[in-house]
Amino acid sequence: MTAQPTLSLDEISTGDELMFERGEKNEAFKILRREAPVRWNPGNEEVKGWWDITKYEDVLYVSRNPERFISSEGIVMFEPRDPEMRLQAANGNGKMLITMDPPRHVMLRRLVNKGFTPRAVRAMEGHIREITRDLLDDIAPKGKCDFVIDVASQLPLAVICEMMGLEKQDWPLMFQLTNKVLGAGDPEYQTDVPEDQRGTNDAARLTGNMGTMGMFGFFAQQLEARKAHRRGDLISILVDSEIEGEKLTDEDLLWFCFLLILAGNETTRNAISGGLMTLCEHPAERARLQADMSLLPAAIEEILRWVSPVTHMARIATEDSEIRGQKIAKGDRVVMWYPSVNRDEDIFPEPERFDITRSPNDHLAFGIGEHFCLGAGFARLELRVMFEELFARLPDIQMDGPVERLRSTFIGGIKHLPVRYTPA
Ligand code: HEM
Repeated sequence: MTAQPTLSLDEISTGDELMFERGEKNEAFKILRREAPVRWNPGNEEVKGWWDITKYEDVLYVSRNPERFISSEGIVMFEPRDPEMRLQAANGNGKMLITMDPPRHVMLRRLVNKGFTPRAVRAMEGHIREITRDLLDDIAPKGKCDFVIDVASQLPLAVICEMMGLEKQDWPLMFQLTNKVLGAGDPEYQTDVPEDQRGTNDAARLTGNMGTMGMFGFFAQQLEARKAHRRGDLISILVDSEIEGEKLTDEDLLWFCFLLILAGNETTRNAISGGLMTLCEHPAERARLQADMSLLPAAIEEILRWVSPVTHMARIATEDSEIRGQKIAKGDRVVMWYPSVNRDEDIFPEPERFDITRSPNDHLAFGIGEHFCLGAGFARLELRVMFEELFARLPDIQMDGPVERLRSTFIGGIKHLPVRYTPA
């Protein structure tokens, strides 16, 4: 038997999107945690450097100090060196809930909290089940499908689009634009660029900007429509919201819509498809679950730990500090790697074992602290309903060919997951 090729520390750069696309991130993070848990990556001639934070306790520390490590100067690792490029990047720094700092962050979060309480989540269960059953009705007779395109992407898309009051005819556009923004670096979504120029940094920038502009154009029309007629959806609530007696500006509203649509659909899509793939790869755990579906809530937490659909969030240090003996200077970018902390040997016994009854399981897939995921309740519910319905309807569903992963350092995405099953 030939030994598995292994990476060495010098070969690992967390800026290498191909490492993520090839599915090598977990091996790389294991080495980083062991040999360089807080490591400076110098970046390159185009992007500034950053610190890789790969241990659980250190991510807790950074996340729980939102004044010392701020979000308003960027939450992704790549920051162009060229100021001109930074201006062009349309990154929403400081303008969205997720890129805001206290105290405005808390005030803005309060405005939409009502739509995300446990009660609001529970109230959606029946409807989420209906959507899921409809999706499964469509694929069940076929015997095979692309699980990402036909199922996993459709449920979260429908849920967030309905919450925002978007017409069904617009959902495919939201899917397309989300892929362009969050999958900008993946040639498959660089459809505005000639084929022979795809896969370059310029193609990624252009694709991201096209996606963002498309979203803004679309949501500008939605805002106008809500201003004329309120509809009791999230956008209408936002239009009427005030912070300290002042209405949100159109720009605030547009960035809010942008964040909700992105955060609400791409992440949960990858948790669902990553979850099915993981269960297929661990047949004994899957059999245990299908024999006793009351294990599902714990299994979902293990899926979230294992898949960690959001790969990183970044922060900027506002003062000099030290983490694990490394000197972090004011202005440095620190990048928190969720797939790594969720397999941290100091926190999770046997972290490389997929165990659907793992307890405790305090994973950080939804982040922690001030910016803890607003939609975690919806994501958990969508996952639960999806697996309940899926295993009831298509109990023998199996992978039917290799998965295609997204080329991204930010989203642990699966673009295509062929599956087959006995037609039902
Ligand atoms: C499995 C699915 C999901 C995962 C893994 C996930 C993960 C995350 C993470 C890691 C953060 C940022 C934490 C930080 O910066 O510290 C976040 C924030 C956020 N998420 Fe999610 N998310 C998911 C689903 C959703 C859904 C379904 C929605 C909306 C319906 C949503 C809306 C948001 C919003 C609005 C924020 C910003 C919160 C803030 O800054 O206060 N997410 N999410």
